[in-house]
Amino acid sequence: MVGKKVHITCFGCQMNKLDSSLVASALKEAGFETTGSAADADAVLINTCSVRAHAEERVCSHLGHLKHIRKTRPDIVVAVMGCMAQRLGRRLLAHDAVDIVVGPGQIPKIPKMIADAIEGGGEQVAVSEKIRTAGSESETRMLDDFETAFDSDENHIKSQAFVRVMRGCNSFCTYCVVPYVRGPEISRRPDAIMEQIRKLADGGIKQITLLGQTVNSYKYAAGDKTYYLADLLEMANGIEAVKWIRFITSHPGKFDDSILHAMAGLDKVCPYLHIPAQSGSDRILKAMNRGYTASEYLDLLARTRRIVGDVAIAGDFIVGFPGEEPEDFQATVRLVEQACYKNIFVFKYSPRPGTHAVDKLDDSVPYDVKQERNRDLLEIQNRIAADYNKRFVGREVDVLVEGPSKKPHLNRADNENNPQLVGRTATDYIVVFNGPKSLAGTFTRVRITKATPLTLFAKLDGSSQ
Ligand code: SAH
Ligand code: SF4
Ligand code: F3S
Repeated sequence: MVGKKVHITCFGCQMNKLDSSLVASALKEAGFETTGSAADADAVLINTCSVRAHAEERVCSHLGHLKHIRKTRPDIVVAVMGCMAQRLGRRLLAHDAVDIVVGPGQIPKIPKMIADAIEGGGEQVAVSEKIRTAGSESETRMLDDFETAFDSDENHIKSQAFVRVMRGCNSFCTYCVVPYVRGPEISRRPDAIMEQIRKLADGGIKQITLLGQTVNSYKYAAGDKTYYLADLLEMANGIEAVKWIRFITSHPGKFDDSILHAMAGLDKVCPYLHIPAQSGSDRILKAMNRGYTASEYLDLLARTRRIVGDVAIAGDFIVGFPGEEPEDFQATVRLVEQACYKNIFVFKYSPRPGTHAVDKLDDSVPYDVKQERNRDLLEIQNRIAADYNKRFVGREVDVLVEGPSKKPHLNRADNENNPQLVGRTATDYIVVFNGPKSLAGTFTRVRITKATPLTLFAKLDGSSQ
């Protein structure tokens, strides 16, 4: 398809961002060009998320916009990929603006499907019919080969790349749609993962983030040896050009201490753990099917701090889960007060079709109560972080520089005309400082001058660079 242009939009998590970048590389190899404007494109590809109703609503409004464009450009091809495509399948074709529907397990087919549609091939659907049944070995291999062939270092953040170590999820938290749209847990071959990391490192990647929905349950049996996440961390640590290694997201149930020992003992593994608690109430945790109690969760954090030392912890919470009473929410507040998080993500419970919670439990908490709890929890965390972060002022830290700050209010130049840059510490703190753009993608030492709950401000240290 030489000369044809594709516009790609992506909603959702890092898994989706990774899928979008793989598909973008595959389209490029098939001769397509990418364009920043939908109106200018021969085909539009939307990668979708189903995790909350709001995520799907955003996709719908984007499709509404495309329907409008189609009035003047009837030939434009519209393809929907990702979790919503898998959830709704053929039903999405009922939308006036949709020609192609592709689930996350079928992404290698996208370039051909788009090319066929541009040539007048009509509507096409490729989704997994039995999503909870692992695909055949050849399908898994096809996905794996696609992953290795089209991973690219043209990432949106210079020097950083994400590498999938597993697909799917077997946890079945009662509120969550992911197991029904991403299928069962399948760990990738360690040699394929390492080959990919080596290739990325050869291309200049310095930070690797290993991706999995429950990344700590990575498990791959090869002959006599079974590989776990700690083994992957050790192998990746041995790759010379890789400097920092992270992994997201961890599930607090069945979290093995070998991971903590790897974090403590391997110099490149960053002391950062994203480990959602979801709630601090045992009753709610049980109704969510999370498989741990609040005190077991806090014990795990205490163990992490004992073994790793200075470690930053991030968490997710759902407020307004069915049946969440004020005392349940208070238990969540207590947990946040005790956990000492670096940051938390708070979500209002959103009933998802097909999940256990939607079938069996009433969405009993009114929207304004959810909103109030959401705001309260963030305020409490902000207060804790504002106080905690003061200790960083005056310290020197190394950051991996991402590039110029995208927030206009931060985008002030200093008197040498250096823009404000954003970097992250090994512990994942966001650090903003003035410096030359050429620092993007490099490690730089800065001195912290000011701390806010979510951002540290700094000055370039003269002795570094
Ligand atoms: N696999 C990861 C993250 C999955 S989705 C994990 O288990 O940690 C990211 C976050 O979205 C979850 O941690 C949860 O807090 C939130 N989430 C998932 N389903 C939701 C729902 N139905 N309503 C509101 N938030 C939800
Ligand atoms: Fe969803 Fe739970 Fe799996 Fe995370 S662990 S993806 S919240 S089912
Ligand atoms: Fe990610 Fe959303 Fe799918 S969070 S796995 S893109 S449902």
